[in-house]
Amino acid sequence: PTEPLVLGIETSCDETGIGIVRGRTLLSNTIASSMDEHARYGGVVPEVAARAHLEALQPSIEAALAESHVGLTDIDAIAVTSGPGLAGALMVGVGAAKALAVSLERPLYAVNHLVGHIAADILDADAPPLEYPTVALLVSGGHTSLLLVRDLTTDVELLGETMDDAAGEAFDKVARLLGLPYPGGPEIDRAAAAGDADAIRFPRGLSRASDLAAHRYDFSFSGLKTAVARWVEQTQAAGEEVPVADVAASFREAVVDVLVTKALAACADHGVPRLLLGGGVIANKRLRDVAIERADAAGVTVRIPPLSLCTDNGAMIAALAAELIMAGRPPSTLAFGADSTLPV
Ligand code: KG4
Ligand code: ZN
Repeated sequence: PTEPLVLGIETSCDETGIGIVRGRTLLSNTIASSMDEHARYGGVVPEVAARAHLEALQPSIEAALAESHVGLTDIDAIAVTSGPGLAGALMVGVGAAKALAVSLERPLYAVNHLVGHIAADILDADAPPLEYPTVALLVSGGHTSLLLVRDLTTDVELLGETMDDAAGEAFDKVARLLGLPYPGGPEIDRAAAAGDADAIRFPRGLSRASDLAAHRYDFSFSGLKTAVARWVEQTQAAGEEVPVADVAASFREAVVDVLVTKALAACADHGVPRLLLGGGVIANKRLRDVAIERADAAGVTVRIPPLSLCTDNGAMIAALAAELIMAGRPPSTLAFGADSTLPV
């Protein structure tokens, strides 16, 4: 069919996402999160996530079909995230996708989670079509990656990624050491609103001239996290109260600064006047504002899909498979498995 009806399954982290698209049109995007179950551990627990996917899949698929007003037998193809992500969590989605594809006798497309994040943009009905090449900055609790997209279905190049913590993970860890609940991103954001971003100069990871030679597009947030921890300890040791708002604002500024600086450097180096943002950390308004402001000054256009498509979801996985189908690409064979470190 010219506009294939695709059901996408995403289980790489803590969101069970089922999405249904018809070509480039979004029909449904149901997301069941096990976030609450991880909250008391201060981060995603892989075993808990895998079990939650197992429980959420069946009802989520039914909900997505109902919302789309289509029957299971109407589906033309099944799509699934095969990696990167948590191995056990991925395995649940991959197993379910294979079972569906075999029982329905439909083609199965195994896709890359990061490329899926880029495909989310296609479903943004209010935006003009995605133009190539574009630089993509993907920031979530699980990844921080900078990519050069020459063509979504044939040519996506990883320029750089985090060497340690993901940006969202850094937000979560710093929130924890400030005594704020999980997930920390929104909490830090709230606390930062009343703070001074210039109060404390926290380090920008991999930004020194000596680092840039080998890590121009790579990120590191563990040094920043340690710097915040040390600053808080020293303040407490001196018997002073920790100015949570200032720490939050200064920390957030350090993360935002390095993300935007490196993304715009990639745009400049490659002569690409387009930047696409994705991932759950895009919920951070300061990040969006700084990106838009500095991109504007550099003559770069910023695209930000709606947040429901930026966080992990099944619709982006279905959208990518629909693109592959429309580009005439053959389906995956059943031989593939979950690959926690799948390259783009
Ligand atoms: O993409 P996402 O929903 O899920 C995965 O990472 O799989 O991203 C969640 C991450 C968490 O680390 C959370 O703390 C962070 O995004 N986050 C934020 C904000 N809202 C969520 N980080 C900074 N500022 C926010 N407003
Ligand atoms: Zn993701």
